[in-house]
Amino acid sequence: MDSLDAGAIDLPETQVRVVGRCSSTNEVLLRDASAGTTLLAAEEQTAGRGRRGRRWHSAPGAGVTFSLRRRVQRPVRELACLSLVAGVAVARALRGLGVRGAALKWPNDLLVGGAKLGGILVETRSHARGATAVIGIGINCRRTPGLEGKLRRRVAFLDDSVRLERNQVIQHTARALLDALDAFDAKGLDAVRADWEAMDAHAGQRLRVRLADGRTVSGVASGLAPDGALQLRTRSGLRAVASGRVVSSRTA
Ligand code: BTN
Repeated sequence: MDSLDAGAIDLPETQVRVVGRCSSTNEVLLRDASAGTTLLAAEEQTAGRGRRGRRWHSAPGAGVTFSLRRRVQRPVRELACLSLVAGVAVARALRGLGVRGAALKWPNDLLVGGAKLGGILVETRSHARGATAVIGIGINCRRTPGLEGKLRRRVAFLDDSVRLERNQVIQHTARALLDALDAFDAKGLDAVRADWEAMDAHAGQRLRVRLADGRTVSGVASGLAPDGALQLRTRSGLRAVASGRVVSSRTA
């Protein structure tokens, strides 16, 4: 088994920490009051967090689980775009490492061949001089028997595409993340919009999206609205979905 090693992860102006076990790398970085850009990676999380209050499951040593905490220079109303920015960065990095089919599912899933390879959880804190974001990345690396049954969905593992050291995966994804955040600070979502749309696993497909209130809306995936909402072409025109979950997809 390859072990995580802070010395093997070299990032500009970033403190890198590795722990054997913690509750959740997002939670630890949100609690930690120290300033400066910090990356925390863990071999094991005892309470890994997913979106919408779900758990993130990753057996010890079987995945990449890390969070990056960094100041963000955009207005608070734009922070919802961060999971799209992070998705583009991680997908770019994985493609660069040889994971050819790495794709994105709005708003924050990483897919390969339609199966979930990873996820992104962004948590933010606003303060007088701007905002701090903690961007958590989980990627399934080593094939873990039983995970698909537990999650009741198709799961992808990096090992099925290319065998990579986890330190190398963190180095490349975090580097791409820092670059994408610099670009986001300067240009907002426009910095990554074209790449997000090019890597959208569902572009041009007919989607059914469940909204926060339980209703569903169907339409053909038509890229991102200026604020990062998912645009659907419906029978009554273009509709932007700001928050929801894609529950089904098929060729339009
Ligand atoms: C999702 O797909 O629901 C998002 C999953 C995000 C998981 C990562 S693992 C590292 C970081 N720490 C956490 O507790 N969650 C994120």
